[in-house]
Amino acid sequence: MNSVLVIGSINMDLVVETGQFPAPGETVLGLRFDTYPGGKGANQAVAARRLGAQVAMIGCVGDDAFGQELVGRLNGEGIDTQHVRVAKGIRSGVATITVSQAENSIVVVPGANHQLTPADLHAAAGAFAAADVVLCQLEIPLATVAAAADLAAQHGKPFLLNPAPATQLPQTLLARVAMLTPNEHELATVFSNAPGAWQAQLVKYRQRIVMTRGADGAWFADADGRLRQQTAFRVTAIDTTGAGDTFNGALAAFWGLEQAELVRRACAASALSVTRAGAQGGMPTGEALTAFLAAAAPATAAAGG
Ligand code: RIB
Repeated sequence: MNSVLVIGSINMDLVVETGQFPAPGETVLGLRFDTYPGGKGANQAVAARRLGAQVAMIGCVGDDAFGQELVGRLNGEGIDTQHVRVAKGIRSGVATITVSQAENSIVVVPGANHQLTPADLHAAAGAFAAADVVLCQLEIPLATVAAAADLAAQHGKPFLLNPAPATQLPQTLLARVAMLTPNEHELATVFSNAPGAWQAQLVKYRQRIVMTRGADGAWFADADGRLRQQTAFRVTAIDTTGAGDTFNGALAAFWGLEQAELVRRACAASALSVTRAGAQGGMPTGEALTAFLAAAAPATAAAGG
């Protein structure tokens, strides 16, 4: 099992469940309110750890009660937090999340996550040396993401990038990425493509992009440039928050497996993650994933191309 270094955001998720999303200017009554640990970086770290990887995290929280609780939760999962910095006088990142019929809408206030600098990464160079694989997202400053990619390259470690929330990415950064994991919208944003033109990008960056597509599963192009689809696993969804993060955590945990099997495991882990409330609530252990896969039908479909 891999040693995974995650560089990314750590948020407290403030979650409201409601029967319907409010329209602009409308007030609706909610059904429930809860707080859950979240943030794309922390979620991906927890996903990889639950699946059995050794995980270290580089991040930044504020010197508030949320920050203390969030670091405590990461420690409780068995994640190495020695490189999670506490920024003085800054609030921890929060996400306000509205969940309705298993769908969500999210507003993130980055807070301390935007205090994570390239200097923090250089101070943690030993963590790059110790990792088998480095995993990052875009809820921290882009300069820090670029520094993470550079350090991963200097240490000869594969750099996996989940480009969420999406922004256009420079070629210099893309050139460093061993695997990019956008959804369809993020892919269009990263490459400034017309939406819907994803097939050509998958073929161009064959074996270096896996695109998630919700109920349509995940897509990638194999070494011969053939498009392949891993169909989605059917489950009863309670809360889809963190499904993409579970996918990414699983990719990092199982990195090194043949690509179709890697994507199959990531899709299965992601499916299990939506069966409980909270971004991290449904993330499976390695044993739960193995049992789920044993009971599920195999399949990576060749899709022509
Ligand atoms: O991907 C889900 C995550 O996005 C949430 O946990 C929230 O904190 C936001 O970062």
